[in-house]
Amino acid sequence: MATRKRAARAKSKAAAKKSAKKVVKLEAKRPAAKAVTRNGARRPSAKPWGAAGRALDGVRILDFTHVQSGPTCTQLLAYMGADVIKVERPGVGDITRGQLRDVKGADSLYFTMLNGSKRSITIDSKHPKGKAVLDRLVKQCDVLVENFAPGALDRMGFTWEHIHRLNPRMIVASVKGFGPGPYADCKVYENVAQCAGGSASTTGFRDGPPLVTGAQIGDSGTGLHLALGIVAALYQRSRTGRGQQVLCAMQDGVLNLARVKLRDQQRLNHGPLTEYSQYGEGVPFKQATPRAGNDSGGGQPGWILKCKGWESDPDAYIYFITQAPVWSAICDLIGKPEWKTDPDFATPPARLPRLKQIFATIEQWTMTMTKFEVMDTCNKYDIPVGPILSMKEIAEEQSLRATGTVVEVDHPTRGPYLTVGNPIKLSDSPAAVRRSPLLGEHTDEVLRDVLRYSDKEIADIKASGALSAADKKAEAA
Ligand code: COA
Repeated sequence: MATRKRAARAKSKAAAKKSAKKVVKLEAKRPAAKAVTRNGARRPSAKPWGAAGRALDGVRILDFTHVQSGPTCTQLLAYMGADVIKVERPGVGDITRGQLRDVKGADSLYFTMLNGSKRSITIDSKHPKGKAVLDRLVKQCDVLVENFAPGALDRMGFTWEHIHRLNPRMIVASVKGFGPGPYADCKVYENVAQCAGGSASTTGFRDGPPLVTGAQIGDSGTGLHLALGIVAALYQRSRTGRGQQVLCAMQDGVLNLARVKLRDQQRLNHGPLTEYSQYGEGVPFKQATPRAGNDSGGGQPGWILKCKGWESDPDAYIYFITQAPVWSAICDLIGKPEWKTDPDFATPPARLPRLKQIFATIEQWTMTMTKFEVMDTCNKYDIPVGPILSMKEIAEEQSLRATGTVVEVDHPTRGPYLTVGNPIKLSDSPAAVRRSPLLGEHTDEVLRDVLRYSDKEIADIKASGALSAADKKAEAA
């Protein structure tokens, strides 16, 4: 009897120990009790601002992007803390490594300025062993980003179904030129998107051809849109537990940035666009939103005016906005105090048909000063003006260096270069701006530390030729 009792006591003791262990295990999985409030929300970190990691720490990106649109997106995510693993074709890499080269033998600025803060691994995605390595990467990553020509990813065997089967949490984010429709299969570059998205037809002067803009609204603009889609999908995944496809068409991205021109298209049905200088010049409007030169896109008329030195300096200009609330100050500054009460000039509607005359008069005044002197003078009166800054001036602007918008990084083969840091400033997530990787620089590191291949497996994969260029494979054979 005593033996039976002892045995029962020992059994229940063991069970209690086991269940306590289980509880400890479960507790370990939950955030520490102190880290959550009563309603389950995380308590605010007590760490100093900027010391609580980065916004996207823990997010791993399989970066299958090339050229500009996709790399812009993944670089931003890397700046925000994501571990971005760029998969490149062995021997060649992203085609931009060799495009517009300024330093012999070194990766071009085209590449280095779009691929900072990433890791590079070379994998032949068409080689069976290469595919197996990619499968393993798919399982280890949160997001796959790609901007191949339509169908290219599927042809590699990485269909949505395949990826989703391997990793149901995976977000697959793509840039394409066009969305579904008649042009879905087209390859698209920046200027094609600017034209197809409505920007080119509304840029330039009325009497000239359509113009593309220097800002890469099709490539970098769409990359930005994609980055937003990715973080939204990551946020949704925290509730649903599953990934989804994110698609940004460059045509859509450009149109989104040119939406004020679609606004004007509809306004045309109700009369002329009175803030366009063509209205003041008596030139009738046609059926579509016209090119508006340097007219302001908003309700406050503006134009680019010459400043001192314009004859020899192509950037000695300033953008001047005749904002209604500061009209009196403008009149006094330019020596036209009588315009404050003259019925032809005193009100915004009265000024609209006379914008050409008004800006020509203001220009007589701006031409007496440098663009910076005009800015200093106007700022005192809250008159909105913008000096036309050259890229040289921007590169040398110390305030942009101070904010990390322009950053100098060092590179082992090309030396120091300037890049654009994170234009999005997060107060608790300092940007991580590092140089771009050399081709395949992190291949071993990723195979070993991320994919957990053994040394023997790594040697086998390498020997198979899945990570090396075709010519090297031929040599080895
Ligand atoms: N290993 C083996 N093959 C690889 C590879 C790798 N690691 N990475 C890419 N490739 C292959 C692709 O599978 C594809 O082969 P396939 O045509 O036999 O299927 C091939 O490289 C070329 O890819 P593609 O995207 O067609 O490149 P491209 O240089 O001909 O076209 C673009 C470039 C930009 C026009 C095109 O990619 C595109 O339209 N992209 C979408 C829109 C876009 O982002 N445009 C802006 C670019 S800034």
